[in-house]
Amino acid sequence: MNKELLQAARDVLDNAYVKYSNFHVAAALKMKDGSIITGVNVENASFGLSNCAERTALFTARTQGYVKDDIEEVVVTTKQAHLVSPCGACRQVMSELVPADVNVHMVDARDRVTTLKNKELLPYGFSDDDL
Ligand code: THU
Repeated sequence: MNKELLQAARDVLDNAYVKYSNFHVAAALKMKDGSIITGVNVENASFGLSNCAERTALFTARTQGYVKDDIEEVVVTTKQAHLVSPCGACRQVMSELVPADVNVHMVDARDRVTTLKNKELLPYGFSDDDL
């Protein structure tokens, strides 16, 4: 895993807007052109409108003009001492916006890294093939 990518995620962890859960999450995407795009979770008093860190990063990448094949590596981290992995909604979005073979690194506050390929996170997911 790229250490600079993890640091970029940790650098924005405190920017998470976690008024209701106090559960900070940050995601960072390494792009093939060398740039890094980060995202944090942003909550809302209407809880269901909260946006996860992974989706914030992916939607920002898209906004900046990047496409699926530009993504090389993904990091997700939190302040927790245990493994935290992307939620089901994020896995669904990642299955469409991140290449299947890209590594998704989940890093805990004790620097333990769990790495899975994006396609391993959502077996039998829904896709445009099903439409
Ligand atoms: N959260 C994320 O940002 N990413 C995930 O994959 C899991 C959950 C956020 C949503 C909410 O703001 C907080 O973590 C607690 O659920």
